Amino acid sequence: MSGSVRIGLLGFGTVGSGFYRLVQKERGTIFEATGVELDVQWIAETDLSKHGEGAPRGLFTTDAGAVVDDPDVDVVVELIGGVDTAFALLERALRNGKNIVTANKQLLANRGGPLFDLARETGRQIRYEASVAGAVPIVKVMRESMAGAGLHTVYGIVNGTTNYILTAMQHGEGDYAATLAAAQALGYAEADPSADVSGADAAAKMAILASIAFQSRITMADVAYEGIEDIQPQDVEQAAELGFAIKLVGCARLVDERVNVWVGPALVGRNHSLASISGSDNAVLLEGSEIDRIMLAGPGAGGRQTATAVLADVISIANSKETGFLQQCSCYRSLGLFPNEDMVSAFFIRVRVEDRAGVLAQLSSVFGSHQVSISSMIQKGHGDQAELVLITHPTPERALQLSINELGDLSSVRGRPRTLRVL
Ligand code: HSE
Repeated sequence: MSGSVRIGLLGFGTVGSGFYRLVQKERGTIFEATGVELDVQWIAETDLSKHGEGAPRGLFTTDAGAVVDDPDVDVVVELIGGVDTAFALLERALRNGKNIVTANKQLLANRGGPLFDLARETGRQIRYEASVAGAVPIVKVMRESMAGAGLHTVYGIVNGTTNYILTAMQHGEGDYAATLAAAQALGYAEADPSADVSGADAAAKMAILASIAFQSRITMADVAYEGIEDIQPQDVEQAAELGFAIKLVGCARLVDERVNVWVGPALVGRNHSLASISGSDNAVLLEGSEIDRIMLAGPGAGGRQTATAVLADVISIANSKETGFLQQCSCYRSLGLFPNEDMVSAFFIRVRVEDRAGVLAQLSSVFGSHQVSISSMIQKGHGDQAELVLITHPTPERALQLSINELGDLSSVRGRPRTLRVL
């Protein structure tokens, strides 16, 4: 495809409107640089209050089906989110011979396989740079530049909203609810922000990254995830006292030719590259046998920023000979999953205890019986407020969980201990 590219835009929310504005602003530059003229033909948006918001009224329709059926549309840009409606529209678009650009990570992480199969059958492209890490060009770099890098570990911060909240908590700025509201107002959060704070958004992104890195389809169901809803200011303060920041981390590893993927809050040392990633920024570290380590970082959320990744995909489609290779599903093999219980990590443990002689010995005996070795321990508070904060040496998750379950049976332990991985 070359010359003029006619775009059917589905969705005029934060990213959709950002994309439309960017196309208008950069159209001349893009033409000079690439020889491609971009032309938005339709904007499908069901929220009528958005019709005419920054784009000519005549472009708007509420009928997304008509857009994917229009023979004049070359590329369908899907920015409506959600799984089922988006799947049905994109399936129809592919059958109609359209190329596709999408930022929809839940769609790809839940039903990516069948869509890629259909793209192969119809000889059309699906590009999804904006589905992971906003403006950071991680998908193309992993698929093209890292093809021979022998990737075995991909990890980092892939959700801007939670990083914004945790950074604010770390600096003692505003409470959880106020910071989340600010992240929503700035256009970082998903339409339903529970996807951000529960870890589901990051889990979908890690499923996509793992599928690319290890060439095996990883779906949402394969990712064990936990969010930041239960993180208390005390966790952040005590982690800081020990020299750590708390980040929502996603990690995908190839272990013995099996894949392990998790998302959860974790402690990162003050000198770790991820510790300095603040606000809504994202960062992904790629480790491979041939590259040692590469980090990509930058704006991970926001309409204006994420729109650049959408635009890059449209230009890539326009500049591909035939269908290029990126439309092909990257997953040509099928690897098993490596169980979380066998993964090894150091852990941070915060546990409320009775403040009396012998309690520490009881706890040590439980950890010792499961071969969990303690690297450091401090007591915080006294009397009713007494807490022990421990960091373990690297230990299998199974041993840690058995210890935590057993601690729950001790009369000297109050409530369930908080455990967080330490990177
Ligand atoms: N809501 C996402 C985030 C942005 O906060 O990272 C889009 O992926």
